[in-house]
Amino acid sequence: MKCKQLLVKGKAKSVYSTDVKDTLIIEFRDDITAFDGGKKDILSNKGNYNAEVSAFFFQYLGRNGVRTHFSTMLDPHHMVVRKLEMIPLEVIVRNIAAGSLVRNYPFREGTLLDPPLIVIDYKDDTRHDPMLNDEIIIALKLATPAELKKIKKMALEVNRLLGALLAAQGITLVDFKIEFGRRGKMVYLGDEISMDSMRLWDKTTGESLDKDVYRFEKGDVMAIYQKVAERITAPIKDLI
Ligand code: ATP
Ligand code: TYD
Repeated sequence: MKCKQLLVKGKAKSVYSTDVKDTLIIEFRDDITAFDGGKKDILSNKGNYNAEVSAFFFQYLGRNGVRTHFSTMLDPHHMVVRKLEMIPLEVIVRNIAAGSLVRNYPFREGTLLDPPLIVIDYKDDTRHDPMLNDEIIIALKLATPAELKKIKKMALEVNRLLGALLAAQGITLVDFKIEFGRRGKMVYLGDEISMDSMRLWDKTTGESLDKDVYRFEKGDVMAIYQKVAERITAPIKDLI
């Protein structure tokens, strides 16, 4: 299979059509951005680490009953996926208060959120991804009530599964963002799940193991991404 036509060039990934029906190739590029694109760099091999971790998570979730777009890896930075009609929602699940939740609301960083919070933003860069509520999502017809219910259920299931997998590797799943798409009446998990889209803390040291290292210049981003990718994808017998 080969990339045919560039369909979308996003901030960190490019999406290509292929010669196979309903099948796309996502290229995980080495671009990294933060603060609404205000900070940008190219970090050699970043795409590979994110693709490797995403593929690992999609396969693990798929084996555990979550419907995902993942098909296979063509090479370390090209993922073959099922084409979805993307739903323009950034679905964020939070287990521990951090990031914008702490900046915008009177939560203390590190507070356990039990049950986890689901926050949904509108995926629209021109509007700086404003936060939505269920009524706005339905009124804008971004998703049907049934899709929204399914999305929230899937998001919590992804959180449960990833939280358990990461905990077994000594990593706390603080929060993460996922995206969904539809095929007919079916909702699929799409896009990526990687160090760029999650907040991960080392259980013992509290050290950041994700894009916060880049955002706040906490260390050698690539050395940390490489170590985390190795740590996450190390097989864990009982969980996968
Ligand atoms: P961000 O998600 O960080 O706001 P972006 O929109 O620039 O950034 P990228 O991740 O660089 O996103 O680009 C990937 C694009 O591919 C996104 O628009 C995403 O919604 C889309 N996409 C992901 N999975 C699929 C899929 N299975 N079918 C169709 N489009 C997809
Ligand atoms: P959040 O705390 O809202 O934003 P920030 O990263 O600016 O502090 O992010 C919560 C989690 O969701 C975090 O792990 C990063 C991820 N995320 C994305 O990957 N893309 C996004 O557009 C947003 C808003 C969050």
